[in-house]
Parts: sequence; C-alpha cells; structure tokens
Amino acid sequence: MLAGGQSSRMGQDKALLPWKGATLVQSVAQEVLQAAGSVTLIGTPEVYGNLGFPVIPDLIAGCGPLGGLHAALSATSAEWNLVVACDMPSVTHELLEELLAAAEQSGADALVPETPDGLEPLCAVYHARLLPAVESAIQSKLLTMHDFVSTIRARLWPAPDASVFRNMNTPEQLLEGRPKDTSSHYIEFVDVYKTFDKPVLVDVSFHVDAGETVAIIGRSGVGKSVTLGHIMGFLKPDQGRIYVAYSDITDMTETELRRIRKKVTMVFQSGALFDSLTVGENILFSLETREDYNEQNKEDVVRGLLNLVDMADYENVYPTELSTGHKRAVAIARALAAQPECILYDEPTTMVDPIMSDHLIGLMLRLKNQLRLTAVVVTHDLDLMRRVADTVVVLYEGKAIFFGPVADLEKSPHPHIQEFLAMDRVA
Ligand SMILES: Nc1ncnc2c1ncn2[C@@H]1O[C@H](COP(=O)(O)OP(=O)(O)OP(=O)(O)O)[C@@H](O)[C@H]1O
Ligand SMILES: [Mg+2]
Repeated sequence: MLAGGQSSRMGQDKALLPWKGATLVQSVAQEVLQAAGSVTLIGTPEVYGNLGFPVIPDLIAGCGPLGGLHAALSATSAEWNLVVACDMPSVTHELLEELLAAAEQSGADALVPETPDGLEPLCAVYHARLLPAVESAIQSKLLTMHDFVSTIRARLWPAPDASVFRNMNTPEQLLEGRPKDTSSHYIEFVDVYKTFDKPVLVDVSFHVDAGETVAIIGRSGVGKSVTLGHIMGFLKPDQGRIYVAYSDITDMTETELRRIRKKVTMVFQSGALFDSLTVGENILFSLETREDYNEQNKEDVVRGLLNLVDMADYENVYPTELSTGHKRAVAIARALAAQPECILYDEPTTMVDPIMSDHLIGLMLRLKNQLRLTAVVVTHDLDLMRRVADTVVVLYEGKAIFFGPVADLEKSPHPHIQEFLAMDRVA
C-alpha cells in the first residue's frame, strides 16, 4: 500500500486523516489485508511504524507512486502484487479479491482497472518480473504511473463503477465521504433533546438550507433562544446531533467552534453593544482583527455597513442615546462586519414601534435578497415571519409540532397552531 507523501493541497498527510474510527491508511489496509493476506506499507517508517503493519521506505526518493511501486517490487516475495493508494477509501476487499484473481489468470505483467474515467494504475496488480521495467522507467525520468503502464504488457480490467476508485484530494471530498460528520443542509437538528430543570427540547428536528430564512416561533419560555444557543455551540444537547455550516458541531471543542462562529453570527435581543464606544467604534471593534484592511479600508467598511442599515447619521452617537430598534440595526451592522454566511436574530422586532419594526424587516429582507445570507429568526411576530421566512418551526411543549413552508402553516390542524394564528388575527 502506498501510504507516503505529503499532500500539498491538504496541507497534511492524507494517510493519517481520521477515517471510520481509525486513520485512512489503516482503514484501506484492512481491506487489502482481507483480500491479499498480507500488507506492507510503503512510506516513512518513523511516520507509519506504529499502525500495526510492516513499513518499508522508498529506495529511490522523490519518484512518487512509481518509486513506491519500485520499493514494493524490490521487497516482495510474491509473484503478484496488489498496489493500492491509501487515499481510496471506497475500495472493498471483494473488489480487490476479484482483481487479484483476474491478474493471476491474465498472462500479462499487470492488471489495471479501466473505468469510464480512464485507467486506475494506483489500484492495480503488478507482477514481480516488472522490477527491471520500473527501474528503467525511473532512470528515463518517466515518472507517472499512467506513462509507465502504457509501456508494459498490461491487461485492462473493465471496472463497473469509477466511484470505487475515487480518491481523496481535498478536505471537501473527504467530508463528502463522511456523511455522519456532515449534513447536506446548512443547519440541521437531528432528534435533539435538552433538559434544564424540566425538558425544554424534546426530539426536535428541522433544517435550514443555504440562502433560506427559517423562523422559529412559539410561546415565551418554549426554548427558542435555547435553540439559537445550540446553533452557536454555547449549549450542548443531551442527545441528538447538531450540524452548522454543514459540519457536526455536537462534540466540537471551543477552538473548532470559533471557526464556525466566524461563519454564523448572532444578533442578540439586547444588541449587546459597548456603551463606552460610539456606534462607529462598535463596528470598528469587530474589524480590529482584519489584517487584510488598513485603517482607511476599515473606515470605509464602517461607513458602508452603517449606510446598509440606514444608520449613517448615527456614527458618532453612543448606544445609550439610541432607541432599541436603532441599537438592533447597529448590532446587525456589527454582525455583518465579520462577513458571515448566516445570521441568527433573536426577537428582532420585539419592543420596537411599528415603523422601526417595518424598517428592521426591510433590512432583513435586503440582507436575504442582496447578500443571500442564510438566516434563523426567533420571533412571535407573525407579520415578520410571513414577510421574511421561507420555512417555519413551531415549538410547543418541547416539540417541533410544525416544520414546513410558511404558506402551509394555516393548513396545520394542530389546535395550538390554530390558536396561535387566531390570536394573531385578533391582535
Ligand atoms: N442556562 C439555562 N439554565 C437553566 N434553564 C434555562 C437556561 N436557559 C434557558 N433555560 C430555560 O429553558 C426554557 C426555555 O428558555 P428560552 O430562553 O429558550 O425561551 P424562549 O422561547 O426564548 O422564550 P422568550 O420568548 O421568552 O424569549 C425556560 O424555561 C428557561 O428558564
Ligand atoms: Mg428568548
């Protein structure tokens, strides 16, 4: 098995990436072992020596996979040798067994799978008699495996499906291969339970897709803010999984969560502004760590953000002089300074007058339509929900009793939802 080599794109050794409870190389090696009866890793012994398999280094350094094949054929006592790159986690021992059996009957010097995407020389079977051919290929600076197999007597093996040889080259591909750690939804709650003195969230599931706005509605104390706290990773569920920015954040450490919180920011009910700083300075504060901006850029960004939220005239005003609604507009501008992908609003229109409420709703719509921000908005304001949200989650007695398009809410037969809607019509 070819284990070695840094992947410059991944910035780390692919072989040692976590995979199914072990490392990528160990996981693939188990399949090879089952198919072939023994496994030798080709790579740096100091790096791979403790994985439970014999390790031999390249004899001629810097020749890539062909150097690995050279090391393998130099060390082997077997006629037929299955050579597999460690970054192909979808290969199975059944497939490898078939390959080996076909090679033994091929009468050729190598058996190389052929898929609709081309040849796969990094999951192929090579006869030991190829060693001199490998040496001369290296001497003549023929360095790719594809070039090499075109010079030898190789039999092609039609493979049914190219995806089994899919290799991992980027962290994204790696994540794709790990469905348990990622979600196809931007945010997803799967069977989430949380109890404080009493159960607050009971088997709550819903999801938010990128670019979408989801409203969370329900009576006071039902767990709406607690739900947002879970999205930010401030709170951990007792049971269930939570995915944010496509990643499973349930067991993330604070350091890992900081990476998520750069993408997802929260606008608190109170605004949470610094009273000792002016509006402009409050926003500037969020830009402090931006090394890509000089002082002039930062001032431009502050002005741009204040314009965006219609607060340009208030740059030099202190938060204590602002109304609740204006504080929220500033808090939204400050959240945007981090260039988030997603914004969480906790009761953005509570305790502001109807004109300010209308203004904030207009602002949220602009961010949704112009910046394509994903959003979650906690509210009891059904007007806000209807104007801004695509989808709604209704929480009641710990459960999500409704999750679906806003337009379908009226059709729900649930008595609590009907009561909620009726109260709104009265108001
Ligand atoms: N950190 C905590 N420790 C203990 N109990 C908590 C904690 N946070 C929230 N709770 C409880 O969880 C329940 C839900 O609280 P939450 O703040 O999510 O309600 P809410 O739906 O946001 O209500 P409101 O509409 O009044 O803001 C409440 O009973 C609250 O007392
Ligand atoms: Mg709340």
